[in-house]
Amino acid sequence: MKWLVFICLLAIGSNAFTTRQQRKFPDDFIFGTATASYQIEGGWDADGKGENIWDRMTHTNPTVIKDQSNGDIAADTYNNYKRDVEMMRELGLDAYRFSLSWPRILPDGFSNRINDAGVQFYNNYIDEMVKYNIKPMITLYHWDLPQKLQDLGGFLNPLFPQWFEDYSRVVFDLFGDRVKYWITFNEPREVCYQGYDTVTMAPMLNATGIGAYLCAKHLVLAHANAYHLYKKEFAGDDGVCGITYSVGWSEPLTDSKEDEFATELMRQADWGIYSEPIFSESGGFPKELTEVVNQKSIEQGYSKSRMPEFTQEEIEFMRGAYDFFGINHYTGVYVSGTENLQEHPVPSMHDDINVGTSVSSDWPAAASVWLKQMPDSLLNVLLLIKEKYNNPVIYITENGWSTRLEAGLVDDDRVRYYRAALENVLDALDAGVNLKGYMAWSLMDNFEWMQGYTERFGLYEVDFEDPARTRTPRKSAFVYKEVVRTRVVDHEYEPSSMTMTIDEGK
Ligand code: NOJ
Repeated sequence: MKWLVFICLLAIGSNAFTTRQQRKFPDDFIFGTATASYQIEGGWDADGKGENIWDRMTHTNPTVIKDQSNGDIAADTYNNYKRDVEMMRELGLDAYRFSLSWPRILPDGFSNRINDAGVQFYNNYIDEMVKYNIKPMITLYHWDLPQKLQDLGGFLNPLFPQWFEDYSRVVFDLFGDRVKYWITFNEPREVCYQGYDTVTMAPMLNATGIGAYLCAKHLVLAHANAYHLYKKEFAGDDGVCGITYSVGWSEPLTDSKEDEFATELMRQADWGIYSEPIFSESGGFPKELTEVVNQKSIEQGYSKSRMPEFTQEEIEFMRGAYDFFGINHYTGVYVSGTENLQEHPVPSMHDDINVGTSVSSDWPAAASVWLKQMPDSLLNVLLLIKEKYNNPVIYITENGWSTRLEAGLVDDDRVRYYRAALENVLDALDAGVNLKGYMAWSLMDNFEWMQGYTERFGLYEVDFEDPARTRTPRKSAFVYKEVVRTRVVDHEYEPSSMTMTIDEGK
């Protein structure tokens, strides 16, 4: 009997091994890398660009950034864009996700004045990609709001959705002939919660318990404005438009009712508040969070809920306004309704949901405090979104791992992280998830927001001391290139040298 069990296990094991070796990404699966304008471009006031909220914050309040740096020059993509495209060709990428700087195109935020030099820069960048068959995937907004719009309240102004639509029209009109993948917003939670409810991102408004909810309303309406405009006037047969969320994996600490409810509330606060109005069948803000905020607001003496409402017309307008669900995924946490609870300001979103989180000390840790390698977190997220939103088309628009500069070019921990994530992508494809592409964060080191240049996410290292901002491939760049080339995750692959070349045909 023992022998039989042993032989069976052996058979399953070897079968799993061969299947794993043979699993291939589909030919039309899109591999790319991702970046964002403020994190790489530099040229902060070059050729008529307007000021953005990160320019303002880092110039007037430099100590909020860990190394007191800023994105004034960053990786100087404004001058190095050809080298960036060369790197994409070295990696053999199918696509490249990057964002537009709104004030580089519209210095005042409004569409009455277009900065031709900014438009020329993006035309050059896009043309260079298209020349080499690399599909541009553009994020309209990755956190660098024109300061002039912030002076008017930014995302908290009810006119924001109109401003965003006007900006979208300008860029769809300018670049829509060559760009077929559009993402309206990158990570609404980080925009609204971190920017308006706390002090952990520009504009550091700290309107706790108010800012995130108000911002959420205008952000999702703005998304729907841009989406409908695109589909009606620009998309043609092949253009697609979606929105990208930061979706970490939240897992109940235990199977108690409290922990399960806490996990649901946390998911709703993190991304459901921004995704339910667009992807759910019922539309509008998520039910449980709405009820909790409503109740707390009344208890706290407000005349009505701190969570704003939508009209029925708005609910209908937003519902279904998507071609795909974009996921930025990095990590996950355990969530509890009774353990690890902390004090929070009242009112605040954290006080509203009142959950405790924890991680396992077994998970490998990256340079960023929040980033641990939680097993199968990406697979779990993909399965959840499939289940929740009726199997939508999904793109993984970011996934990656941070190291410190001192870690050097042989980044085996990043390699381990990427391989595990890509195995999860294959698992998800096997499970029928409608996943169409994967973008590694990031093509190169860049300005990591409040952490400045102290945390590095690049497949390519960037030398920020060097005026030329020289880029050098890390080991992970070679490993990713091999995945893209072979469409297989080969756990044994080791690059034979650290010299990059461009393969024929790319
Ligand atoms: C998500 C953000 O979109 C990106 O800007 C950031 O650099 C990465 N996460 C890493 O923190």
